[in-house]
Amino acid sequence: MKTLITNIGELTTNAPVPEHAAAGDDRCGTLHDAAVLIDGDRIAWVGPAAEAPDADEAIDAEGRAVIPGFVDSHSHLVFGGDRAAEFEARMQGQKYAAGGIRSTVAATRAATDDELRIRLRGFLDEMLAQGTTTVEIKSGYGLDVATEERLLRLAAEVTPEVTFLGAHVVPAEYADRGDDYVDLVTGEMLDACAPHAKWIDVFCETGAFTVPQSRRVLEAGIARGLQPRVHASQLGPGEGVQLAVELGAASIDHGTYLTDDDVTALAGSETVLTLLPGVEFSTRQPYPDARRLIDAGVRVAIACDTNPGSSFTSSMPFCIAVAVRDMRMTVAEAIHAATAGGAAALRRTDIGRIAPGMRADLVLLKSPSRVHLAYRPGVPLVDAVWKDGVRAV
Ligand code: NIG
Ligand code: FE
Repeated sequence: MKTLITNIGELTTNAPVPEHAAAGDDRCGTLHDAAVLIDGDRIAWVGPAAEAPDADEAIDAEGRAVIPGFVDSHSHLVFGGDRAAEFEARMQGQKYAAGGIRSTVAATRAATDDELRIRLRGFLDEMLAQGTTTVEIKSGYGLDVATEERLLRLAAEVTPEVTFLGAHVVPAEYADRGDDYVDLVTGEMLDACAPHAKWIDVFCETGAFTVPQSRRVLEAGIARGLQPRVHASQLGPGEGVQLAVELGAASIDHGTYLTDDDVTALAGSETVLTLLPGVEFSTRQPYPDARRLIDAGVRVAIACDTNPGSSFTSSMPFCIAVAVRDMRMTVAEAIHAATAGGAAALRRTDIGRIAPGMRADLVLLKSPSRVHLAYRPGVPLVDAVWKDGVRAV
């Protein structure tokens, strides 16, 4: 089955066109009056609408914009309960702390598989409706062997981007015995969880895991064939970024408090910095300066970090708008970071761009340009979504 999307007023390919490079920065590889041919689950052709090949069906974009599907490379979607009261208290001056995770652990352990599954699928539906076609999902609200394994199995039902985050926080039953908990995470828990996961993650932060503990977790995961990614520098500066770079992590996420040495290390590495604008928004922390990072040569991604504590949005358009408004990104940089950036943070070469051979994950907007995603915050601008070549919205 071949589908042609034609009469696209503005096409964001993320595949920079050489003529454009000469005319200035166009990381989005923008084409006007364009068409895209989908063949099965892949993009088969991209070019001027006037030269488009034949197809079985044609969709008229009526001059509107098409972008790659969003790649949301950081989420925690398998959990029970919520923490609305904690959010409300925070908006009245209470500080966010890592310990809030423990109340979600209790609610998650008490939930059945079906309760968690229905919730998870609901989040995925709301993400798809907002243009997200790939999502990474972490465990981390079980913190015992059976529940962590359960959360990963549920996540693996819906995405290949599954992350074992047994080292999210030290659970209450291991209070003051963090090293003993790390023994469990790197031993019996890893044995049960590694078969279901692609990634190993750790929350390297005051109130969660120290740098030596984080190193043990990541190295144990790597030894089992998992690839590292790290939560770090969310609540204050630390050495988590340096550890992530040293271990070749695909991404370090948060980076709210980065030192100049962190920025230099990231700029000289393959590690992506994943910015999570929803977190600063809903914890009232200062926004990291994306301008400083991009100008230094750091590769950045944007993700939602959907979770009941620090960021309960599932909207990539919302995160793009905040990144542009408060992190000093250009719209083009933010959209690139939310698509190609997310793909790089997941070390995926088959998504995040609209080019022949890539997976056919595309979003048709209701607006004539991608700028509207930041210009019209909070407005539902997604008209249609294709995932793996299938019309999903
Ligand atoms: O990415 N930082 C650690 N984990 C989550 C928050 C989890 C929670 O508060 O429940 C995050 O922000
Ligand atoms: Fe997170």
